[in-house]
Amino acid sequence: MERYKEAVAQCLVAPLGEPVEHVMSMLRLPPEPEMGDYAFPCFTLAKTWKQAPQQIASQLAEEVVVQMPIASVQAQGPYLNFTLADDVLSQEVIEGILAAEDDYGCGDEGRGHTVVIDYSAPNIAKELLFHHIRSTMIGHALIRILRARGYTVVSDNHLGDWGTPFGLLIAAYERFGWDGEAGVEDIVQLNALYVRASAEAKTDPAFAQEGRQWFQRLEAGDPDARERWRWFVEVSLAEFQKVYDLLGVSFDHMLGESDYEPYLDDTVKLLEEKHVLSESDGALVVDLEAYDMPPFLVKKQDGTTLYGTRDLSTALYRRREWQFDTCLYVVDMGQSLHFKQLFKSLELAGQEWVSGCHHIPFGLVLQKDPETGKWTKGSTRRGNASLLKTVLEDAIAMARQKIAESNPDLPNPDDVARQVGVGAVVFNDLRHRRVRDVKFDREAILNPYGETGPYMQYAHARCASVLAMARLTPGEGVDYTLLREPEERALVRKLAAYPSVVAEAAREWEPSIIAQHLLDLAADFNRYWARGNKDHRLRILRRDEPASTAARVSLTAALRVVLRNGLHLLGVPTPDAM
Ligand code: ARG
Repeated sequence: MERYKEAVAQCLVAPLGEPVEHVMSMLRLPPEPEMGDYAFPCFTLAKTWKQAPQQIASQLAEEVVVQMPIASVQAQGPYLNFTLADDVLSQEVIEGILAAEDDYGCGDEGRGHTVVIDYSAPNIAKELLFHHIRSTMIGHALIRILRARGYTVVSDNHLGDWGTPFGLLIAAYERFGWDGEAGVEDIVQLNALYVRASAEAKTDPAFAQEGRQWFQRLEAGDPDARERWRWFVEVSLAEFQKVYDLLGVSFDHMLGESDYEPYLDDTVKLLEEKHVLSESDGALVVDLEAYDMPPFLVKKQDGTTLYGTRDLSTALYRRREWQFDTCLYVVDMGQSLHFKQLFKSLELAGQEWVSGCHHIPFGLVLQKDPETGKWTKGSTRRGNASLLKTVLEDAIAMARQKIAESNPDLPNPDDVARQVGVGAVVFNDLRHRRVRDVKFDREAILNPYGETGPYMQYAHARCASVLAMARLTPGEGVDYTLLREPEERALVRKLAAYPSVVAEAAREWEPSIIAQHLLDLAADFNRYWARGNKDHRLRILRRDEPASTAARVSLTAALRVVLRNGLHLLGVPTPDAM
């Protein structure tokens, strides 16, 4: 819509004597579509022009010369409202979408700019819990959105595969052995061992000490320690991969915390050289008191490193290897302080590029407690944290059942069930601003009448089925003056706005901006469809009216492209039938 906005602003350049960019920044969207496409508020001129805004609006209405693509201009109270020519707009927008297809929504403002995305980043030896969906899918969507806008994106799954917990795990393995229970997956047993090790360490100081020693051996490269550890990693990665495959997620890199081992000494040296390290109770820290933050721990008393040390090395490594301009850490809100400390420490160490590092926080996943009916955060300790795999499998099973009931003849029902089940969970995760908590309710996310993944997928499948029935080539021989219904006008405008919506999502690192726009589009389309069901003159496919059919089918084809592209950016699959 930028081009149209500029055309509107252009009309006002002469009467106002202002540059076009300035006029553009003053244009607003009218609250009601019937009022027009752009409104120019005259309040700000009242002072200099020494006139009431209403007067200014009517005066400007007479002065302004409109030309294509603007159809009319009208003073309405203190506003000057511009309306675009429907047929010109429809033709340009629809033909543009049909020509661009998968590329519609793409842009190139990110050219020459490299973004690293740190996401998913689960810890080894534990299973993926439901809340891991958040970092994984927000990160995944951001990658696609940024790539669509021309950014070079490097994605990296910063696996939590290092640290004292692994020392404890080895200690537990040595002490309790491995049951190797038949029929129980390795990952489940590993997880159990992990839980047992953490519990034991709390009550038995000798055991905790053993754990620390094992981690020291691990850091020192002890072959036994390494071998155990490597096996833990393998078991976990095999399990993670299953879930990533279900979600359709892949990574450019999966560099774990352990991969930064070789760089830790240099990192500490760099901090020393820059005089940002101080000693505190035998530990090495970056003192951040001047910034109202607790000290950032770099080395413990026993000489071992920490999560934060590895994050320092990671940032330095990424900058060196990938020369990023921006590095986004898609990590839950609970780690805000950690990232503030990390970025401040790097800044104090003279790493100016750290101004391009940003924490992308997000809220919790809440599940309804079946007993109290309250929304709560699942907890591993209380044993009510769902596994991500289980949540996805349940959603798929429910979708499969719905298909069996409502569409028993559907070809490849298992594939579609997977797309619907996964799409439901993913769309629910990305629908609202990421900092908000996500409420998860199995029934609700699959409700095709709610603001859900299946609702979006239905709208898309409906378009696909209209197009299959139409048997004509969209965009061919179309009389665009026939798209006059309010829903048609609204749809065309929202389709036109889609690329700027993607650009905004990329600027704000906020996938929900796209999700909300797609919901709006689907709602308009469904309203249109419902009116067509009541009044046959409004139907898309009309044997008695080939001209209007051609126009409406073209609009439907354009809508389908946008729904498909938008849902693709979000990681929501789009089956043609469901
Ligand atoms: N593994 C960490 C956790 O589960 C998240 C890592 C996020 N990324 C980072 N560079 N710190 O809490």
